Amino acid sequence: RAGTSPGDDLAGRRVVVSAGGTREALDPVRFLGNRSSGKQGYAVAAEAALRGAHVTLVAANVDLATPPGCEVVRVESALELQEQLTGLVSAGDVDVVVMAAAVADFRPRHYVGTKIKKSHGDGDESAPTVELVRNPDILAGLVAARGESRTPYVVGFAAETGDESGDVLHHARAKLERKGCDLLVANEVGGGKAFGQDDNTVHLLRPGTQEVVTVGPATKAAVATAIWDTVAPELR
Ligand code: CTP
Ligand code: CA
Repeated sequence: RAGTSPGDDLAGRRVVVSAGGTREALDPVRFLGNRSSGKQGYAVAAEAALRGAHVTLVAANVDLATPPGCEVVRVESALELQEQLTGLVSAGDVDVVVMAAAVADFRPRHYVGTKIKKSHGDGDESAPTVELVRNPDILAGLVAARGESRTPYVVGFAAETGDESGDVLHHARAKLERKGCDLLVANEVGGGKAFGQDDNTVHLLRPGTQEVVTVGPATKAAVATAIWDTVAPELR
């Protein structure tokens, strides 16, 4: 692909981007959710389309305009997201999957088909306990399913705060190892950082190198450009 301009360095590529945040239903009116807006995933999809890729966005509860040239598939829960992504990837031909969605780690064990009532009778002051079960790790599943083929190229995101056991980069490096993906985009969250904001600071980590590319504070569009500048030359 040498000699092509950055403007079309994804021409002919098929890209799937998950974006937004999953919702795990408790009953017909309630869910467990998270604060992901979908902005970073949409920016990644928009940039890929600008660079010539055929882009499918799998959007979990996103309230944003569809970027030009992208197809959108809407999902709500982690299980629905997994079903759509594995369907797209197993249909073949996908060159890159970008897991920008914030996937709930847990979902309620039981979905109650009718609205959960506060009280079961006069003087009933009890409160229910919500039992949770683990959701599948979709990213790890995509990496495992591709096996030796190394296709598609898989990009993971990591929202990290840093804590007493290590800083953001320490946690990101460990997550990259655990996930086995080809690129990990680590962003600092908490204290009003990242979620729903237009600016973002991220660190790009790849396996087999200690080199880290830090981008930002930058717009989510600039972060998307840096991601594709890293990924495009690595595609076979
Ligand atoms: N992810 C996923 N399936 C899940 C949870 C996360 O595919 N059930 C993906 C996210 O889309 C993201 C990456 O894994 O690309 C990292 O998500 P993150 O929540 O940071 O990592 P976890 O492995 O869930 O670890 P933790 O939340 O404990 O930090
Ligand atoms: Ca998680």
